[in-house]
Amino acid sequence: MQRASAASARQDSPSLGASDGRPLILALPHNETLAQALAGVLGVDSAVVETRQFPDGESYVRLPVPTADCDVVLVCTLDRPDSKLLPLLFAAATARELGARRVGLVAPYLAYMRQDRRFHPGEAVTARGVARLLSDAVDWLITVDPHLHRIHDLSEVYTIPCTVIQAAPLIAAWVARNVPRAVLVGPDEESAQWVQAVAGLAEVPYLVLEKTRHGDRDVAVSPPVVEQWNGHVPVLVDDIVSTARTMSVTVRHLIAAGMRPPICIGVHAIFAGDAEEALRSAGAAQVITCDSVPHVTNCISLVPAIAPVLRRHFGP
Ligand code: R5P
Repeated sequence: MQRASAASARQDSPSLGASDGRPLILALPHNETLAQALAGVLGVDSAVVETRQFPDGESYVRLPVPTADCDVVLVCTLDRPDSKLLPLLFAAATARELGARRVGLVAPYLAYMRQDRRFHPGEAVTARGVARLLSDAVDWLITVDPHLHRIHDLSEVYTIPCTVIQAAPLIAAWVARNVPRAVLVGPDEESAQWVQAVAGLAEVPYLVLEKTRHGDRDVAVSPPVVEQWNGHVPVLVDDIVSTARTMSVTVRHLIAAGMRPPICIGVHAIFAGDAEEALRSAGAAQVITCDSVPHVTNCISLVPAIAPVLRRHFGP
């Protein structure tokens, strides 16, 4: 009872600004840096959605500014998604209830895309479940390199307009600027799409290995044939670094085959548990990621790729 009256008292008197129909960027917690950078480039206001947990574990969510007649953009990357999804859904619903014209979502990392089919009887196909939840909650979605494997296009599962941004041009620019004589290495067949794109743009050679996954933390990668690349700097490229087992095994193979310690580049820095340490102790020379998930390894900003798409959503 007490918490309900406190919450509604605050909601009745929003503390900041007044809705004037201009676009508004609202960051869910931990997305402030990206939201502010986008707002700065686009010249629009940004604010942070207030969230906290009640003692019973339920979520309190409050929009800090009015949203009536605004195009509202929620910024919420969806690594470790279970604790983020519910506040995000509440924030989206509240923006709509309070009169937002349209509510969009910038989720640079889109969760659950790897559980894209029922591998064993009775399993939830959570890629579809999350797609349904988000499609109901917002009007459009911008994301970066979602893990499209057995789902080939987001429109197979999302019913809202989705824009997929590719990190390849930004990664290629980083490689071209920082790595003389690079040879790109994709650790598995799924990485071929990213490695080919980056290699083409950076105008460097590439090879793709084969991976067999035996369990969450148990992967085998085919030993590479690298004689012709002696003298090159190997650059591993993959979309997701989660346990980093895929990259660690590949790093070890490359070093054992006589190559220099590789530079490892991931789009999405999930780094579960001891992943970063495991990758460094496997012998990675450098670990570099895009900033779709905030992490100390972030070196490549996605703002130059996301901002123009967002500008188009805002219209003239
Ligand atoms: C899956 O095929 C992805 O492209 C990545 O290779 C994978 O998610 C990496 O996972 P981990 O870091 O746990 O080996």
